Amino acid sequence: MSQYLRASHVDVKKVAAKEAAAAAIPLMAPYKMGRFELSHRVVLAPLTRCRSYDHVPQPHAALYYSQRATNGGLLISEATGVSATGEGYPEIPGVWTRQQVKAWKPIVDAVHRKGALFFCQLAHVGRASTNDFMDCFDSNPEALGSYMVRQLNKHPELLYCHMVEPRMATVEGRRKINHGLLPFRKQFNGTFIASGGYDREEGNKVVDDGYADLVAYGRLFLANPDLPRRFELNAPLNKYD
Ligand SMILES: Cc1cc2nc3c(=O)[nH]c(=O)nc-3n(C[C@H](O)[C@H](O)[C@H](O)COP(=O)(O)O)c2cc1C
Repeated sequence: MSQYLRASHVDVKKVAAKEAAAAAIPLMAPYKMGRFELSHRVVLAPLTRCRSYDHVPQPHAALYYSQRATNGGLLISEATGVSATGEGYPEIPGVWTRQQVKAWKPIVDAVHRKGALFFCQLAHVGRASTNDFMDCFDSNPEALGSYMVRQLNKHPELLYCHMVEPRMATVEGRRKINHGLLPFRKQFNGTFIASGGYDREEGNKVVDDGYADLVAYGRLFLANPDLPRRFELNAPLNKYD
């Protein structure tokens, strides 16, 4: 009995220490997104892999996504086509046939078994699928972005707005984020996810000062499947290529 008590006492201490470490960094703080309880703020950014042959998700994706799934974590899928006419890239997965939907099931199940939340990024490249509009650019991206965010606010059932930082600069060997999303963050009523060039320090900073609710990581998450844990422990990261 006393042995048992000692053992459980140690376990409790371990758990308490882990919780204290987790609470210490903003990226590891829980967050409620609509009806979903997220256990941390480190999101898998949508990352096209071009490995879904004939637009059908492949079994290897179950491993890829579940390796990056954590209990209470949020994953956003790679861009997923909604129709045969909206494809901008070869071998991206789709959800417009029964075969594709069936192929997604074991992948989604593998992610859910880890306790993670999985959103599908629906994609239609629009007019770019005809290659006519490749040279277009926005003359006033801030006005356009603000207009779009205001339109999104008309749909309160929309859970989040995810934006990529407009540009990155390198200052003294470190990537510097320009925080160009602030106007949109301020205008959007729901959960705001920022991404584009973030590391542990920058992610903690923007969550702490309220610039973003969640931070999506792309290339670092590719190279470090256990990224949330590494951030939690402040462990060294693999470099991406
Ligand atoms: C290989 C690769 C594939 C990507 N595919 C998508 C995609 O399917 N949909 C999307 O919205 N963004 C896509 N992105 C952009 C990422 O989601 C992310 O915004 C970008 O990589 C910047 O974040 P990072 O600096 O953490 O990598 C892709 C980026 C990379 C590197």
